[in-house]
Amino acid sequence: MKIEVGKVEDFKVGERRRIDTPSGPVVLFFLGGRSFHAFSARCPHLGCDLSKYGVIVREEVVCQCHFTHFSIKDGKAIKGATRKSLNKFTVIVEGNGVWLEIASNFMESGSSGTGKTS
Ligand code: FES
Repeated sequence: MKIEVGKVEDFKVGERRRIDTPSGPVVLFFLGGRSFHAFSARCPHLGCDLSKYGVIVREEVVCQCHFTHFSIKDGKAIKGATRKSLNKFTVIVEGNGVWLEIASNFMESGSSGTGKTS
């Protein structure tokens, strides 16, 4: 499933945006240029909303609820309160359009593993 989320110029550098999809909430980070990163918005630890409590620090997504760090590359937990991974989604930039790709078998569960895309 491909969901259009806007145009590149609609985003401010450093912006964090919640996208509600039929499969659950997703948080989209824009780091400038054509660099977008999308993850499940629900932290796999205790479910904090990463569209409110998630920040990017260098190459990591940090959940500020209990300071778990996840790799921005693949969502793997690096350190903190859980070892569960964050689901990462593919973001496609075509021309000026920004699209989110959600695997058809992805269902938000708050646990790691299912539906992960690169
Ligand atoms: S809910 Fe995210 S680290 Fe605890």
